[in-house]
Amino acid sequence: MRASSAVQLPDLPGLEPIDLPIPAAPGRLGVTFRDSKSLPVHRWYPYVEGFSADYLSQHLLKHSRGATVYDPFGGSGTVNLEASKLGIESCFSETNPFMRFVTETKINARFEARRSGIFVAAIQSYRRAVLSARFARSTQAISLDTYEEAFRNRDFFVENDLRQLLAAKDLAIEVCGDTQYVRDLILLALASIVVQSSNMTRRADLRRRREGEYTGRKVDVRQFILQKLSQIEHDVLASGDSFAPARFLNEDSRDFDAESEGQFSLILTSPPYVNGTNYIRNTKLELWFLDFIGSEKELSQFNKKSITCGINNVIKSRRPSNHFDFVEAIARKLDDASLDDRIPSLVRGYCSDMMDVLQNCRRYLRRDGRLVLDIGDSQFYGVHIPTDFFIEKIASNLGFELEKRVTLARRHSRDKSPLQQVELTFRVPFSSASSGPR
Ligand SMILES: C[S@@+](CC[C@H](N)C(=O)[O-])C[C@H]1O[C@@H](n2cnc3c(N)ncnc32)[C@H](O)[C@@H]1O
Repeated sequence: MRASSAVQLPDLPGLEPIDLPIPAAPGRLGVTFRDSKSLPVHRWYPYVEGFSADYLSQHLLKHSRGATVYDPFGGSGTVNLEASKLGIESCFSETNPFMRFVTETKINARFEARRSGIFVAAIQSYRRAVLSARFARSTQAISLDTYEEAFRNRDFFVENDLRQLLAAKDLAIEVCGDTQYVRDLILLALASIVVQSSNMTRRADLRRRREGEYTGRKVDVRQFILQKLSQIEHDVLASGDSFAPARFLNEDSRDFDAESEGQFSLILTSPPYVNGTNYIRNTKLELWFLDFIGSEKELSQFNKKSITCGINNVIKSRRPSNHFDFVEAIARKLDDASLDDRIPSLVRGYCSDMMDVLQNCRRYLRRDGRLVLDIGDSQFYGVHIPTDFFIEKIASNLGFELEKRVTLARRHSRDKSPLQQVELTFRVPFSSASSGPR
């Protein structure tokens, strides 16, 4: 039986979702966070770039065989959360410290809260404090200096809404004291409603809401806080017994971690696409709110650690260290066709960076392990960028063997050229396997 549905794809400039037939289970198409946004815990922080939770558990069950799983582009930790629910330990790399916080809180702090005797009482006392007259009064005394320092003269918020958010943050620190896991859960609740409480919206990129957009929308910060807390409280209490921790490996998956050599049975990931998404700038309000940055300028330190995936993180001084003839053939066409010289640099830089990441993956994988990634192609100035083909070639140069290729979704660019999202599964042929344990 086949049903039809609009498939929401990762937001790529110039790409729109198209109607696709969706086969009945076990197949599924369109692997994005939209499938997860109403699921317990996944729903705490909506990450448009996130993975579909359902999709992951199939791979985890099939390939992990109880050993550690790694996601080199952790994002909101969907892989890690699904692994944790199955009792499988996991590691992740993630450049964005806010996203790292999201992952660690959803998994590790939730576990602490679930087994603690004081979690419910702590949330209740925080809730009462937010509803109190004292809280309302405290908002007036809140200093907006840190906001002004970070975003001088930018009216991202209505002033009173911003005051309430900042007062709620101070209150979390006051009420929770040293009980870090409860404090982190509350701070995640607050950070998760920051954009919703602002004059901004995040649809692919963070941008100002347009006149007339969301006409029925009313910002009520206290209400948003209470709703998010109820969601978190419910999901903590409803969590099953099965748990395994998620461990942060490093900020930049291009950096090799010697201790992970031969350790992972499954590397499962959704790398950035070559599409211009700026993962760092898109979360600048949350990064500031949780004190990871003091000014917009500080975003650049994280951009530098991100792989080259958008024109905004093409760093002119960072020359690609790896070169490939098959990439050059396309990049040269872009040299001629592109009005912006950052586009060919983006393609060259992306492939060079992915080579570093895949090389590390190759060394981290156990002999019988699998690398599974989902990737999509793109199109710029009429030139097709076959990112899936690039990844396949780079991986095969590193000794990986393509075991399976599955088309997850078909898409099209603005000029109606066909594009797709594919899943690639690689294994390491036995003869060339690394020396890791079997
Ligand atoms: C497509 S998103 C992954 C989403 C994730 N699958 C999820 O379900 O939330 C890609 C992530 O890679 C991160 N990233 C980009 N460059 C990185 C690097 N060099 N090392 C580690 N993470 C990186 C970005 O910050 C972003 O969160």
